[in-house]
Amino acid sequence: MDQNALKQMVGQEAVKYVEDGMIVGLGSGSTVQYMVDALGKRVQEEQMDIVCVATSNKTEDQARALGMTVKSIDEVDQIDLTIDGADEISKDFNGIKGGGAAHLWEKIVAINSRRNMWIVDESKMVDQLGAFPLPLEVIPFGSSHVFEKLEQLGFHPEFRMRDGKHVLTDSKNYLIDLHLGKIDHPETLAKQLDSMVGVVEHGLFLGIVDLVIVGTQHGVKTVKK
Ligand code: A5P
Repeated sequence: MDQNALKQMVGQEAVKYVEDGMIVGLGSGSTVQYMVDALGKRVQEEQMDIVCVATSNKTEDQARALGMTVKSIDEVDQIDLTIDGADEISKDFNGIKGGGAAHLWEKIVAINSRRNMWIVDESKMVDQLGAFPLPLEVIPFGSSHVFEKLEQLGFHPEFRMRDGKHVLTDSKNYLIDLHLGKIDHPETLAKQLDSMVGVVEHGLFLGIVDLVIVGTQHGVKTVKK
């Protein structure tokens, strides 16, 4: 099975956890895209009454196109279940997200959810976080100075660019990816980044996820915290 087949498999598995009447958080990324397709199909076939909260404009457009009800996070109380992808997950259920530039909205939705599920193919499961560059969403104003500080700290920052222009998040901010190689102390790093003025949010998701669905060559593996 190739990576896309694994992503599709976990996407289809994840929607089995959605129940009628739920408020469901929809993550972002290519794995979530499969999940949203599968959820749209279920909602239509079973006439389910669910409300979705999207973590990116792209996911919102997809969900609406499939006929699902989408509300803004500010229009709902607590979200029952959020299903999202991840870039790396370590054995202690910490993760890196933001490879698709959506980690700020994803984190806001995640911390306002009763339960959080991540869906990944097996290549995302790691012993230690950090091989995947850690994304930071930064305010454009003063971002070159934030960049310099990150360089001085030895974090090997790189602005995320496309066709010579800054990649913009849905909140119109810039992204800086930190090429750390490995992260020995995620909590310490998270605190350090949290305290940097101009950094809106980093892609370390610590202690957030409850359930991980992994697509492997031998089928779906469900890992509970
Ligand atoms: C979006 O910014 C990310 O957090 C995604 O959830 C993550 O990058 C996983 O994306 P893929 O499913 O495309 O690998």
